[in-house]
Amino acid sequence: MHNEAIGVFDSGLGGLTAVREILETMPNENIVYFGDTGRVPYGSKSNETISKYAIQDARFLKKMGVKMIVAACGTVSSVAPDLTEELGMPYTGVVYPTCYTAVRTTKNGRIGVIGTAATIASHSYKNRIREKHPEYTVVEQACPLYVPLVENGMTDPDDEIVRLVVKRYMAVMKENDVDTIILGCTHYPLLSEAIRREMGDGVTLIDSGKETAIYTKKILEENGLLRTDSGETEARFFVSDTPADFEKYAGLFLRRNIHNHVQQINIEEY
Ligand code: DGL
Repeated sequence: MHNEAIGVFDSGLGGLTAVREILETMPNENIVYFGDTGRVPYGSKSNETISKYAIQDARFLKKMGVKMIVAACGTVSSVAPDLTEELGMPYTGVVYPTCYTAVRTTKNGRIGVIGTAATIASHSYKNRIREKHPEYTVVEQACPLYVPLVENGMTDPDDEIVRLVVKRYMAVMKENDVDTIILGCTHYPLLSEAIRREMGDGVTLIDSGKETAIYTKKILEENGLLRTDSGETEARFFVSDTPADFEKYAGLFLRRNIHNHVQQINIEEY
C-alpha cells in the first residue's frame, strides 16, 4: 500500500534531476511534479518572494494527495522555512542530505559550493557544514548564468559558451584547491560533464538531487510510507506556464519522453 505519490517541486526543470534519482532509488513510487515555469528563476528573487512561492508550490502538491513533499530546489531549501508543520506531512529540502554526503567525501577538508545567488547569499550549505566541521574550508560561488543555460538546453560540454561560463565560475574552486564540489542547485547536474572537464578527475561532484533521493527513501521508510506493492506506476507533471518548452527539455533531465503528460495550472490559486 501507500500508493500515494511523492510530491516534488522546483522553479522549473531542475527538480527533474531529483525525480530521476527518486525513480532510480524507488522504482515503485508514483510522482507528482510541479515546475514553476511561469516564475522561474527563483535564485535571483528575494527571500520573501521565494518563501511565498515555496508555500504555494507545496500547497498545490498537498492538494494532489501526495504522502511526502520534496523541495527539489537548492534555493527554496536555503531560504524558505521548513514546511513540515504547516503541511502536516514529511517534507525535505536538499541542503541537509547533500552536506551529509559532502563532509564524508572530502579528504582535504576543502569543499566548494556552487548555487544560485540567493542560495550562496544565505550560506546555507556552508553553515550546515561548519556546524559539524568548523575546521573545514568552504568556498562559495554563485553561478547565476547556469540556470538560464540549462533551462535553454545549453549543456553540451563542447559548446564554447558553456565551456567559458564554467571556466569563469570554477576559477575560484581551482585557486582554493577544493577536492569536493556541492552542486547546490538541482539544475547543475546537467552541467556536470562540463564542470568535471574543467576541474579534473581529482574533484568529486556531489549531486543534490541524488543525495535527496536517498534521504527521501529513508524518511519514507521511517514513517512506514514506502510503497510495498509493485503495481503500475505513474508520474504526473504540472507547470505554471505553457507545457511546450518543459516537454521539450524534460527528456534531457529524465532521459525519457513525457509528451502529453504535462498540464498547466494557475499556481496563484494556492
Ligand atoms: N533548481 C533551483 C535550485 O536548485 C532553482 C534555480 C532557480 O530557479 O534560480 O536552486
